[in-house]
Amino acid sequence: METKAKVKAIFHLPYNCYSHVHRFMRAYLAEFEGIAAKCDARDAQALANLDNQFAELKAMLAMHAEFEDNAYHPLLENKADDILQEANRQHVDLDSKVAQLAELMDKTKNATSVEEKLSYGYQFYLSYTSFQAEYLQHLVYEERDIMHALNQHYHLDELRAVAFNTFKQMAAQDFLNMCKQLYPYLNAYEKAVFLRNLKDSNTEKFAAVWPEISSQLTATELKLIASDIGVDSQ
Ligand SMILES: [Fe+2]
Repeated sequence: METKAKVKAIFHLPYNCYSHVHRFMRAYLAEFEGIAAKCDARDAQALANLDNQFAELKAMLAMHAEFEDNAYHPLLENKADDILQEANRQHVDLDSKVAQLAELMDKTKNATSVEEKLSYGYQFYLSYTSFQAEYLQHLVYEERDIMHALNQHYHLDELRAVAFNTFKQMAAQDFLNMCKQLYPYLNAYEKAVFLRNLKDSNTEKFAAVWPEISSQLTATELKLIASDIGVDSQ
């Protein structure tokens, strides 16, 4: 498809499971960059904090990739093999970059001289920014190319069922926790799309947490979202 036509189609994707989660991930990656930028590798406490934050980042990225590998990538098999191969290639490549970052983190922690600590700390920071740039491109590929391919080959209900399978395994409290985690990075439209999926996956669980979810919305958001997803705005 021509790029122009593809871009136009993107804005009319019936289903896009990545747009809200990726907003959170971009902010998370940027926040980590800020922590890494300010970390003085000579400061044991600051380095330990960076190491802990790096471990959390790695876990978050691994969980995200595992979900994609298991939930969405199999749907591309025999439908869009070129997209699937590229998606897998990117995941393998990003995994190896994370492993390189982990090595640099270990070298920074284990360095015995101030010069070495500063040198490896700086290498970690630069390598992270390179990784971040690549990861941001990966997120665009997923939202643009993978989502486009999935919508070409599957009906909206089939794609929503994939997300619903995950939501069905969650408790009502998990719904609330996800909203709290994602809300700071979403506009009202994205919040409504996400909440509609939660509501349609399990009306009872959604109803149990809607009062608390709605209490965290501004009056303007609440009005917009309540009418979008068909719930009471009171
Ligand atoms: Fe991915």
